[in-house]
Amino acid sequence: MNYREAYEKLDKIGQTQILRYYDTLSAEEQQALLTQIDETDFSVIDYISQGEHGAEKGVISPLECMELPEIEAHKDEFTAIGLDAIAHSRVGAVLLAGGMGTRLGSDNPKGMYNIGLTHEVFIFQRLIENTMDVIRAANAAAGRDDIWIPFYIMTSEKNNDATIAFFEEKDYFGYNKDFVHFFKQDMAPATDRNGKVYLESKSRIATSPNGNAGWFKSLVNAGLLDGVHEQGIEYLNIFAVDNVLQRIADPAFVGACIERDVEVGAKVVAKAAPDEAIGVMCLEDGRPSIVEYYEMTDEIMHAKNDKGEPAYRFGVILNYLFKVSALEDILSKSLPMHVVEKKIPCLDENGELIKPDKPNGYKFEQLVLDMIHQLASCLPYEVVREKEFAPIKNKTGIDSVESARELCKLNGIEL
Ligand code: UTP
Repeated sequence: MNYREAYEKLDKIGQTQILRYYDTLSAEEQQALLTQIDETDFSVIDYISQGEHGAEKGVISPLECMELPEIEAHKDEFTAIGLDAIAHSRVGAVLLAGGMGTRLGSDNPKGMYNIGLTHEVFIFQRLIENTMDVIRAANAAAGRDDIWIPFYIMTSEKNNDATIAFFEEKDYFGYNKDFVHFFKQDMAPATDRNGKVYLESKSRIATSPNGNAGWFKSLVNAGLLDGVHEQGIEYLNIFAVDNVLQRIADPAFVGACIERDVEVGAKVVAKAAPDEAIGVMCLEDGRPSIVEYYEMTDEIMHAKNDKGEPAYRFGVILNYLFKVSALEDILSKSLPMHVVEKKIPCLDENGELIKPDKPNGYKFEQLVLDMIHQLASCLPYEVVREKEFAPIKNKTGIDSVESARELCKLNGIEL
């Protein structure tokens, strides 16, 4: 794309401010900016006029959850099925680590955050250690020592190099690196509140990762699907980077999903309070879905089921087990776009880089929870909150480094 073509593309959509510093750039920088303009899909910006959170919800009704007593009663059976699947390499793990972690406010990838007090305990390390627990159990059950769980890590253009360098430096925290695969997710432009695309430097459009729903498409685009098939992986367990108590490829959960033959299983916790900021599992127009906390109506919040219990009392914790064949079926389907207010580092009017301390514009994200709605069947699977849910979103307060440290202590994890 040359300058004239770039100008025309931007002029049509009212975004020529992107070329504001073009004349001051070196030939190389000019070319880089033109290439980025050529490759960027600006159509996401149109979603701003459709409101903050994407499409309207359909008719919501309760979705039955497999609760703790039922799980306990079948624990041995589910665990055996799950360990056997892991031993036969039918299960892979996918760590979603492409997010920017802006609330935590560290320049490094979130997984590099050290939550240790007396010694280093990095978030990535906690996740690897949790996976190793399962690998040890699978080897013990099979009387082997060569079982590993293929471990995929989704990064973004912004944090990929730092993430890989960190794993290399830490020798993968003892994981077999032959089983670790990195791939990058796609990016989307970020805008101010009027929908004008920001610059992050004079020669670069401000971009941010396009949400965690892009994970399967990005895995496929990275050429990793062949390997998934070759290894015989039938289930992929995706999980958020920031829950340091996350149980990965949990054999009982895997076993329950296989036994129930669902397209997706979702780990859920009982909500702490009706208005807790957590998405709840439900049916929407008869298909599995999630009502996000900001979509919650009073009616949904206080609805009761036949037993007189809150009808929507189980919240998702971003730990899902997807059937690969189901993911392939929905690969070409489009998902709603979420327009999210965020803090976006950008150039100010004087061309100086600023790092705002409050939201200054919009990012565009597709969310993994919307993938659930594309699938025919889902098993919400209850887990004990204090044992499996310690998200780190902020430095202090709710869902923070502080609260996660307390929960780690409660679970006997030395920090
Ligand atoms: P969050 O929604 O908490 O977003 O991500 P975030 O970007 O990490 O944090 P903030 O909002 O900027 O503070 C939930 C999970 O989804 C991943 C994150 O890495 C985290 O594991 N994620 C999020 C992606 O992999 N890609 C994205 O584009 C967004």
